[in-house]
Amino acid sequence: MRKKITVVGAGNVGATCAQRLAERDYADIVLVDIIEGMPQGKALDILQSGPVLGYDSNVIGTNGYEETEGSDIAIITSGVPRKPGMSRDDLVLTNMKIVQGVTEELVKRSPNCIIIVVANPLDAMAQLALKVSGFPRNRVIGMSGILDTARFRTFVAQELKVSVEDVAAYVLGGHGDTMIPLIRMATVGGLPLTEVMHADTISKIEERTVKGGGEIVALLKTGSAFYAPSAGTVQMVDAIVLDKKQILPCAAYLEGEYGINGVFVGVPTKLGENGIEEIIEIKLNSEEQAALDKSADAVRELIEIMKI
Ligand code: APR
Repeated sequence: MRKKITVVGAGNVGATCAQRLAERDYADIVLVDIIEGMPQGKALDILQSGPVLGYDSNVIGTNGYEETEGSDIAIITSGVPRKPGMSRDDLVLTNMKIVQGVTEELVKRSPNCIIIVVANPLDAMAQLALKVSGFPRNRVIGMSGILDTARFRTFVAQELKVSVEDVAAYVLGGHGDTMIPLIRMATVGGLPLTEVMHADTISKIEERTVKGGGEIVALLKTGSAFYAPSAGTVQMVDAIVLDKKQILPCAAYLEGEYGINGVFVGVPTKLGENGIEEIIEIKLNSEEQAALDKSADAVRELIEIMKI
């Protein structure tokens, strides 16, 4: 039977996720938004691309939740995006109300679904969704590490004039200023990045990666990135629907891994049909561990603001 995937928020990230997922042709999609007519219109438009692109995914849009019943995966993109000059953390109070309400509606009708959170501030919103849903931690996952890593890989590939596929890397930690590109472990065609690129250039790329979302916000002026965020989200859905057991950097609720307890932080995870099937612990050096601890503290501050 085809899988059922709900995407909440039919704005830039949500609609692009729905489009990418429809093109995968492995699931039917329900697109939810509060704006009357908008999710219905976008769903119809995506549906009508099927004959041209050759997919049979059913896509429906709605302002309610009846149609979401029995979803296998729910993606939460509903929320306000950043404007120039804002940090992701500035969104916390607005988006927490939205994510809380949406999660309640979703879990009522899809108690066995896997939730992927995309709304920002990412780690805090994932923590809220975990708390509100009461789901086990393997079924609430935050999308950020794939995006941050993709930005890093893009910049490295551009600089070295090699295929993006040759660049393997991990960006861990929170989705914000405290993220940690793991330079020591990045490779290009299997060779250590540190052997093929000057340290100063690596530092510049590291810096650009950390500010990668802000660079796009400053250019767009009216919203934030959505093509790469939706691509990252769909890679996670692929891993789950196709039970790929793929190792991907995701925001996961840690219970002692990396010495961190009770908070979402970006770490390497194994994704398969059960969501996060394993949190992979790698040995960090003291500098990396300190940076990860700092990331966890930044998420904790937001959790205190949310009082959850
Ligand atoms: N229920 C359903 N949809 C909602 C709700 C709600 N309670 N509240 C807001 N929305 C919808 C809006 O109507 C809008 O269509 O969420 C959509 C958000 O879309 P955009 O404004 O285009 O924002 P987008 O770029 O998609 O970003 C969404 O993802 O990457 C993050 O920081 C970003 O938090 C932001 C989120």
